[in-house]
Amino acid sequence: MKETKFEFQYEVYNDITELNKEDADLLTKARAVTKQAYAPYSNFFVGAVAKLNNGETVAGTNQENASYPVGICAERVLLGNAATLYPGISIDTLAISYDSKEVPSDHPISPCGMCRQALLEYETRTEKPIRMILAGQKGKIYIVKTVRFLLPFAFDSAELG
Ligand code: THU
Repeated sequence: MKETKFEFQYEVYNDITELNKEDADLLTKARAVTKQAYAPYSNFFVGAVAKLNNGETVAGTNQENASYPVGICAERVLLGNAATLYPGISIDTLAISYDSKEVPSDHPISPCGMCRQALLEYETRTEKPIRMILAGQKGKIYIVKTVRFLLPFAFDSAELG
């Protein structure tokens, strides 16, 4: 028997003033686009904006539904938009933020499990890691270098041959 461990490093910033201009601009866009979310059931408004490796930016917001499971997270809306508008183009950096009528938006959130799986597929198919900036409307900011870090023991296309 051998015990082994999974660990990863991520960057922690105190607030947006510590980011470089490009990252700060992307996060500002993600914070702003939360206004486009349709989240009347959770009152939790998520915004995601990606800078693609062709220089374009693409956004996504969560879109809920009266039939709750039909709702889609911001990250997967973004991936659908990116793949449709700019097929084959990889994502350099993805900023994810949120706002809420119920809780303060003062710390980072990270993508749900289903979105991690979807983001991983995008990384794999475009052969480029997706760097993620995670933050609320204020407070600390995390930067994670690849979706792989958020999904240990991932099941991916390599398993299917
Ligand atoms: N949500 C996202 O859009 N992204 C996440 O990473 C976490 C959760 C949405 C789904 C739902 O509309 C609301 O936030 C509350 O879960």
